[in-house]
Amino acid sequence: MEVKNKVIIVTGGSSGIGLATAKLLAKKGASVVITSRYKDDIEKVAKDISGAFAVVADMTKPTDIKNLVKKTMNKFGRIDAIINNAGQPAQGNIENFPIDEYRKNIELNLFGPTLLMQQVIPIMRKQGGGSIVNIGSGTTKMALPGVGVYSSGKSALHQLSMVARKELEPDNINVTIIHPYLTATNFGRDRHAPKTDDSTWQSRPGVPPADPPEKVAGVIFEALQNGNEEISLVPVR
Ligand SMILES: NC(=O)c1ccc[n+]([C@@H]2O[C@H](COP(=O)([O-])OP(=O)(O)OC[C@H]3O[C@@H](n4cnc5c(N)ncnc54)[C@H](OP(=O)(O)O)[C@@H]3O)[C@@H](O)[C@H]2O)c1
Repeated sequence: MEVKNKVIIVTGGSSGIGLATAKLLAKKGASVVITSRYKDDIEKVAKDISGAFAVVADMTKPTDIKNLVKKTMNKFGRIDAIINNAGQPAQGNIENFPIDEYRKNIELNLFGPTLLMQQVIPIMRKQGGGSIVNIGSGTTKMALPGVGVYSSGKSALHQLSMVARKELEPDNINVTIIHPYLTATNFGRDRHAPKTDDSTWQSRPGVPPADPPEKVAGVIFEALQNGNEEISLVPVR
């Protein structure tokens, strides 16, 4: 899909990978719709991105997801692509992980993207096609102790994406799953909290350094253009 003049929703556009993606897609000529739970944050970000439209949405809330689609349609009259990027980590061994916290993580990392897909598929079908890019995780390519909850939700999103790709092929709707490697963002940190010098997590002994979010944004752009099924950024050793 050519990105120029297309309407693209990027969930979680206030920070990290989503922010870098929104900037890149706007630079390539798309009208980007960006979301955050925080009105001030997303309006401030939108001011710096040409033509960006800010929508406040908690991606765990079905009413917010419906409202996001409604506002986008009212503003632009179409939706050509979505980047299901909003997400949060979950850290802790399986044995003691509180089930309510597990549920919350799944609500955001799996059900949020699914609900947005369900909202936009009929619109894309009517338009004659579209693109869906789901952001998974490199943790699904390994068995890392302490991230079972997070990686299980992202693994489910991976499988869902592969099946959706097949189901939607006849409608000219492309579905891609991208697995970012460790990326230098605010992931797992409260960006509103006072800054601490915790940059060491980005370079751990024996582990390849974190990618910049702009690298992932470039891969998302590539996926929109080429319609890849799956892209992993995990370094091959
Ligand atoms: N960073 C990594 O190492 C890494 C590796 C693999 C995969 N990923 C995936 O990449 C995606 C982006 O993460 P990032 O690294 O860019 O992290 P980030 O800098 O923390 O950005 C996360 C984004 O998600 C949004 N978000 C969080 N909870 C939300 C909610 N309930 N409703 C709506 N939006 C919500 C945040 O928006 P607000 O806080 O403004 O609401 C923010 O814009 C995630 O899906 C993550 O799982 C990251």
